[in-house]
Amino acid sequence: MNKLVIEGGKSLKGTVKISGAKNAALPIMAATLLTDERCVLHNVPKLRDTQTMVKLLTSLGKAVECDKNTVCISSNGPLKSMAHYDLVSTMRGSFCVLGPLVAKLGHAKVSLPGGCVIGVRPVDLHLKGLKRLNIKIEIENGYAVASTKSLKGNNIYLGGVFGSSVLATANVMMAATLAQGDTVIESAACEPEIEDLANFLSFMGAQITGQGTPRITITGVKKLHGVDYKIIPDRIEAGTFILLAAATKSDITLKGAYINHLLALTDVLEEAGLEFDYGVDTIHVKASRGLDPMSITTYPYPGFPTDLQAQYMTLMALTPGVSVITDKVYPDRFIHIAELNRMGASIRREGMIGIVQGVKGLVGAQIMASDLRASAALVIAGLAAKGKTEISRIYHLERGYENLDQKLRGLGAKISRRKE
Ligand code: UD1
Repeated sequence: MNKLVIEGGKSLKGTVKISGAKNAALPIMAATLLTDERCVLHNVPKLRDTQTMVKLLTSLGKAVECDKNTVCISSNGPLKSMAHYDLVSTMRGSFCVLGPLVAKLGHAKVSLPGGCVIGVRPVDLHLKGLKRLNIKIEIENGYAVASTKSLKGNNIYLGGVFGSSVLATANVMMAATLAQGDTVIESAACEPEIEDLANFLSFMGAQITGQGTPRITITGVKKLHGVDYKIIPDRIEAGTFILLAAATKSDITLKGAYINHLLALTDVLEEAGLEFDYGVDTIHVKASRGLDPMSITTYPYPGFPTDLQAQYMTLMALTPGVSVITDKVYPDRFIHIAELNRMGASIRREGMIGIVQGVKGLVGAQIMASDLRASAALVIAGLAAKGKTEISRIYHLERGYENLDQKLRGLGAKISRRKE
């Protein structure tokens, strides 16, 4: 296993290119199961999670060739209908092969993903939505076993206790593209990654309107085609670099990020006193002065993203004053608090709330990454802290950040990867 060693307390300077969005790439890769024709995807980030999806598609009978950030997916004989536990349990995104498989083959057997450190993470909304399309689903030995004689469009309400669900919307939307008649998804996820998936499906020949809003309408078609498609930039990676720039008092330009996807973050940071310059495809962050503490609550898009909550908490831990951070999407997503406190932060958890008493500075320590976004929060903390920080279990980071240490070295950070 590898660890990251960071000599912190240094401002960074330079330009960083934002990679393609992991959370758009995963369902789009799964959507290629809906056609026998060849699809070419550009701007796919090279990550552990996209590699897991490549393995899953290959195990389902696709031929997949990867060249840098381009992935070509074509048929390689008949599709298989079974997605095994080992490929779904390591990455929940794998569960979104269920909709495309059952739509294409009429049956599928996909392992249930199980929970993870950020919460229980049920899939009831996926199953409820797919059942409304005339799909029978039984749970057998930890697998969802789905079958249908013919998919039928329907009205589907996909709101849950914690709001809309990104991957449930993806799963149902993909299946509905090949259903007979119209499907209306109410309380659909509005995330840009869902919009990107809908745009990809439309290029394939699907008839979809309303993507990016809570009501998506899909008129089923008989067949979808192969396409060439470029994935959108990763707003969570971009947001992580913005928060990192603020926490380390740096001067960083992000290239290729879409500002429109980041308004919930930039709005709160502007109010806190951070300065931005926005170019055509650049965002320049210059953190020259101390910020004011600002409380946030995470919500589904366009609200403040839960995937930036941990990184934002690191910034607030370094911002004198009190801020209150509430996660209404994943109320248990606070495992980073204990590690940040080991570095000198002063954060208390009360249920779905983290109460942060900002301090003047953090100090380097040996810490452990626990999940993908918490790991990014710890990297920011390590870069801002005085002295040496060693972060173990960085395979979590490799799931979602393309060449993070290399990108940081490009900005002047002292960060290296060592064997544990
Ligand atoms: C996706 C993202 C993940 C992000 C999350 C929320 C991918 C690959 N992952 O995950 O990075 O943190 O959106 O923005 O795109 N829920 C239910 N029942 C369900 C499904 C979800 O109750 O059937 C709950 C979840 O436990 C959570 C909330 O709904 O509390 C939102 O989860 P959801 O949007 O489904 O997250 P994912 O799509 O799994």
